[in-house]
Amino acid sequence: MSGKKATLTIGDKSLDLPVHSGTMGPDVIDVKDVLSNGYFTYDPGFMATSACESKITFIDGDKGILLHGGYPIEQLAEKSDYLETCYLLLNGELPNAAQKEDFVSRVMNHTMVHEQLQFFYRGFRRDAHPMAVMCGVVGALSAFYHDNLDINDPEHRRIAAIRLIAKMPTMAAMSYKYSAGQPFMYPRNDLGYAENFLHMMFATPCADYKVNPIVARAMDRIFVLHADHEQNASTSTVRLTGSTGANPYACIAAGIAALWGPSHGGANEAVLKMLDEIGDVSKLDDFIKRVKDKNDSTKLMGFGHRVYKNFDPRAKVMKQTCDEVLTALGIHDPQLELAMKLEEIALNDEYFVSRKLYPNVDFYSGIILKAIGIPTSMFTVIFALGRTPGWIAHWLEMHSAPYKISRPRQLYTGPVQRDFVPMDKR
Ligand code: ACO
Repeated sequence: MSGKKATLTIGDKSLDLPVHSGTMGPDVIDVKDVLSNGYFTYDPGFMATSACESKITFIDGDKGILLHGGYPIEQLAEKSDYLETCYLLLNGELPNAAQKEDFVSRVMNHTMVHEQLQFFYRGFRRDAHPMAVMCGVVGALSAFYHDNLDINDPEHRRIAAIRLIAKMPTMAAMSYKYSAGQPFMYPRNDLGYAENFLHMMFATPCADYKVNPIVARAMDRIFVLHADHEQNASTSTVRLTGSTGANPYACIAAGIAALWGPSHGGANEAVLKMLDEIGDVSKLDDFIKRVKDKNDSTKLMGFGHRVYKNFDPRAKVMKQTCDEVLTALGIHDPQLELAMKLEEIALNDEYFVSRKLYPNVDFYSGIILKAIGIPTSMFTVIFALGRTPGWIAHWLEMHSAPYKISRPRQLYTGPVQRDFVPMDKR
């Protein structure tokens, strides 16, 4: 508590509300007392609402800052790796050498999924979207681990965290293999986390797949850049679901469902579709006109963010990684040129400048993933894989202290109470 107070005046009534200060970021007005005075607060889309206290991630959208445990995302992307970042998110501190070795070994020794799980995949149509499959199979994990589902037991929670981080790449790669009609590949625990994922995606039982270290590093970096983003829509979904006491696998499945939307994680897939539809540079002006037309629902996908109103620091690293990967693989991608031109036009156009719309993390990730050979339908699955430690970290944080079920209220604008009208009188 900061000792500061905010005064809310409603008619002739005045209400002193406590103001809380975090370690960084704006002060927060505690509005709990308005309820006992007969009011609700109103904030559709939670534009100005802090739903919880958290120590995991800090974002300053105006300055383009993203910190995990206080460490800038640019430094983590350059100097750390994904599993170390997972440890940081789960524990609040970077691991020392022994802690890292132990964590990596625990994750890499839980990469296999129950053999029975493959029958869940076989229940889906081959042309099912991999995100639909992921919602189902991740939720289904709770049917396999019901012996460790006591959410009040810290050890059970810890085991679920390791299992989810370890098994997500296996389940994600299986969702691709199933859609391609290829045999599932078992994980290889002698490989690194990203390397193993690429192996399960692209190797077959009849042909080994030599993972290019540049590609593995880029994949790992994509995971790091997606690892957490404080109270975004999918993480808030995980927290809200978790607040009912639901098991961790059900909570993460709910997070995956929320992530799938094109306004959230589905945007990386939508960016490539958009570039495909535009076709070539000569059509860009027409496209931008449609985006700016109030009567047209077309959006510049991969642009804009609820929180970042300056630039998305992840997009900067992603753009750099994109250049590195395309150069290293000798890929000349006309879609990248189109994306660059689109970015240049938008960054100099009054419509986007005045609305503070800048490229977000999804603008470039799709182009890298395409260069690596990942099919478009898997883009959001890879986002889900990368975001898993963030979801779990928030779920663990919520369970580490007393919490209430999340139950928002509403501004009701429907009919007032009235008597039932019998059919012959309607
Ligand atoms: N293209 C064109 N116009 C846009 C875009 C866009 N991508 N984004 C916002 N705008 C416009 C809106 O139409 C609105 O204009 P108006 O003031 O004239 O009505 C103004 O900018 C403000 O936009 P809001 O929708 O109020 O912004 P909000 O914070 O609610 O939305 C969102 C953020 C959903 C990300 C939005 O920018 C968007 O849809 N972007 C495209 C999808 C996308 O890339 N999503 C990925 C987000 S990052 C992530 O999840 C990893």
